[in-house]
Amino acid sequence: MLHIENLTKRFGANVAVDNASFVVDRPMMIGIIGASGAGKSTLLRMMNRLSDASDGSIIFKDRDVTRLQGKAKREWQSECAMIFQQFNLVPRMDVVSNVLHGTLNKRSTMATLFNLYPTEDIHRAIEILDRLGIAEHAPKRAEALSGGQQQRVAIARALMQDPQIILADEPIASLDPMNAQIVMEALRRIFEEDGRTVIANLHTLDTARRYCDRVIGMRQGRIVFDGTPDQLTTGVARDIYGAGAEFSEEATSTEIGALDRPARTLEAV
Ligand SMILES: Nc1ncnc2c1ncn2[C@@H]1O[C@H](COP(=O)(O)OP(=O)(O)OP(=O)(O)O)[C@@H](O)[C@H]1O
Ligand SMILES: [Mg+2]
Repeated sequence: MLHIENLTKRFGANVAVDNASFVVDRPMMIGIIGASGAGKSTLLRMMNRLSDASDGSIIFKDRDVTRLQGKAKREWQSECAMIFQQFNLVPRMDVVSNVLHGTLNKRSTMATLFNLYPTEDIHRAIEILDRLGIAEHAPKRAEALSGGQQQRVAIARALMQDPQIILADEPIASLDPMNAQIVMEALRRIFEEDGRTVIANLHTLDTARRYCDRVIGMRQGRIVFDGTPDQLTTGVARDIYGAGAEFSEEATSTEIGALDRPARTLEAV
């Protein structure tokens, strides 16, 4: 389905992503972990084409999306929607309009200019907000919502594009633990119920092992681990984060990971 082949990004002499390769052969939820500066954001940004690769390729369903331009590139960005740590909503605009912004790639300039949204799109936006448990906030300005609610609006905006892949760059880094859980559960449901692939950069090992089927570990631009949460032992974690990093056995034990993980419907895959 998705083939990342020798993807590389250089910033001058600095190699931010170094020959990264992996294959996603069916919808799944993937967590990317690694220390600050490991190249996680750069990898996602290249996949979404926010940033151009220096080398290598991104193949989705036999289509090379690495060097698409113009309309074709915008279409890919709809198929492969991205959400961010800081939500990137328009703060003074109401929630439902923020969600409808997710259709911008598909609309004419005139329609956009006059804020003309088809009724069916408005209904769909409300349905998506309802699914995420925030329909009651639809008329409010985005800035009036809590961080967790704003991130769910950003997820709704992404879903409005009906993407096959959702890329999430540290989606819960600005949230308290309860909101973090709500947002991660929402992403998990989107994978399980819709069969969309979710690839999330995550700060903590625990979150990755709790919600993801597969974990990719990056260190200094390279992929140094690619496996299941159960394979993510303390030794592997040290490899990813560097020898000096400290991990409690509890944080990396397979039992804890298995117990904490929400019930999964793998049949849906
Ligand atoms: N626009 C840029 N110009 C120059 N160097 C950059 C740019 N973006 C990223 N880098 C460098 O690329 C490397 C990887 O950065 P990246 O932001 O991808 O790391 P990260 O794993 O997402 O880190 P964090 O956990 O802090 O978000 C770093 O050395 C960073 O300084
Ligand atoms: Mg980052």
